[in-house]
Amino acid sequence: MSGDDVTPSGTTDGATSAPPGRQVLVLAGGLSHERDVSLRSGRRVAEALRGSGLEVVERDVDGSLLAQLREERPACVVPMLHGETGEDGAIREVLELLSVPYVGAPPAACRTAFDKPVAKAVVARAGLDTPESVCLPHETFRELGAAEVMAALVSRLGLPLMVKPARSGSALGCSVVRSAEELPAAMVGAFAYGDVALLERFVEGLEVAVPVIDDGSGPRALPAVAIRPDGGVYDYTARYTAGSTEFTTPAPLDAELTAEVARVALTAHEVLGLRDVSRSDLIVDADRRVWFLEVNVAPGFTETSTVPLAIQAAGLDLGKVCASLVQAAVARSSPQE
Ligand SMILES: Nc1ncnc2c1ncn2[C@@H]1O[C@H](COP(=O)(O)OP(=O)(O)OP(=O)(O)O)[C@@H](O)[C@H]1O
Ligand SMILES: [Mg+2]
Repeated sequence: MSGDDVTPSGTTDGATSAPPGRQVLVLAGGLSHERDVSLRSGRRVAEALRGSGLEVVERDVDGSLLAQLREERPACVVPMLHGETGEDGAIREVLELLSVPYVGAPPAACRTAFDKPVAKAVVARAGLDTPESVCLPHETFRELGAAEVMAALVSRLGLPLMVKPARSGSALGCSVVRSAEELPAAMVGAFAYGDVALLERFVEGLEVAVPVIDDGSGPRALPAVAIRPDGGVYDYTARYTAGSTEFTTPAPLDAELTAEVARVALTAHEVLGLRDVSRSDLIVDADRRVWFLEVNVAPGFTETSTVPLAIQAAGLDLGKVCASLVQAAVARSSPQE
């Protein structure tokens, strides 16, 4: 390890805290709608990193963060912030400003990936399938008459269709619309989380989450996790209530489809310019087509999240994987000899 590497805690001189520049700072919480999920992800990652011998501090985002970053100069920041400000690139922009190493994709790539319509356009250009969609801001409904616009949407996309905020997470503001009468309420639900809504053709099939991890030796897809929510809808409750969703990993796919979902996740990771870790959310339909829904740049690491399940299924240790991501982030920001 170079002089800039992160050193294990429990140093021989018995010091209780690591010297400046040695600590790993796990950022969790923030003010997004996914604050609670972020705190749970942050806690799990912090404990995993401690388990692999690193000195870790956990911290929320507030007005004293910058001063702390400047004074304590952590060896690396692990941003476990979900939703806006966490995944839209803003916090990473600030970390870049302060020249603090961090795990994860750079700001511009986060901005692209976090905006679902933009990410869909990028992956579609790279040849991936993504459900047909329409993206409309709130004002369009006001200006042109909601009823007219909604009728056109239903006739183009058919039913059922999926309504979601263009920029959000944890399925907040997402609804399946099965009849035209349900559309107005679904639109209100999506607009509660942002000014732009994405309406997508509904894809029937097996939902899989495919993480991509790069610990410095190149991106690789982890085993796909199949997601089968008890209530049929993978909503906020199904995501974070233990036992309410059946996860199977590796997903029950044959060898060809297993390779295909891995290829799709790797392609999305690469064409969007992502780094270190991502998780693509896909649906495999009855015709064996793999549909890209979205990709997450700060995927959940809670007790019910899919990335830790995939890490375990790959025969890897969560602490070691997290530590190797930290080491890779530190190494890339160290001056080259
Ligand atoms: N086009 C679609 N067809 C069928 N189901 C869909 C479609 N789009 C989304 N879903 C369902 O809605 C859920 C939430 O959608 P999506 O993953 O796009 O949103 P999200 O809020 O960003 O979620 P995440 O927590 O993964 O960040 C998906 O996990 C899936 O179950
Ligand atoms: Mg998703």
